Amino acid sequence: MKLIIAYVKPERFKEVKKELYKAEVFRMSVSKARGCGEQKGFIEILRATTQEVNLLPKIRIELAVNDDFAEKTIDAIIRGARTETMGDGKIFVLPLEECVRIRTVERGPDAIGGLSSQVSEKKRREIEARRNAA
Ligand SMILES: Nc1ncnc2c1ncn2[C@@H]1O[C@H](COP(=O)(O)OP(=O)(O)OP(=O)(O)O)[C@@H](O)[C@H]1O
Ligand SMILES: [Mg+2]
Repeated sequence: MKLIIAYVKPERFKEVKKELYKAEVFRMSVSKARGCGEQKGFIEILRATTQEVNLLPKIRIELAVNDDFAEKTIDAIIRGARTETMGDGKIFVLPLEECVRIRTVERGPDAIGGLSSQVSEKKRREIEARRNAA
């Protein structure tokens, strides 16, 4: 499992969301962020004469995905966010140790969810039965 964290330009977010949908990546958390990269938030670094960085608005997207979805997810974010200009954003990929779906108490790749979450209720009963038997 991987946790993918991406920072994108706010004006590209709609396109990113569309591309993720096309790639069948539906689960995500999104928040407003402020940040800066290489240019310290200034378009021309030579003019950045202050001792501070300038924080620009970005959208932060977090997606927990199963391993076979990681590359598709990264590609979709790139397709949606890339304008080939500075500040297009960054994607961080972290190993994800565990995931728990609270409703069903499923864990691991099952909890992240595939395309068939309708099996969850059945699985939940199985897990509960196994628990009660233990
Ligand atoms: N090393 C980093 N650590 C944490 N957040 C970062 C880092 N680099 C970039 N970010 C986040 O990503 C956003 C976009 O970064 P940005 O695309 O400007 O990166 P960059 O390295 O400056 O590349 P570019 O030269 O294409 O602008 C930043 O505003 C910040 O929120
Ligand atoms: Mg930059």
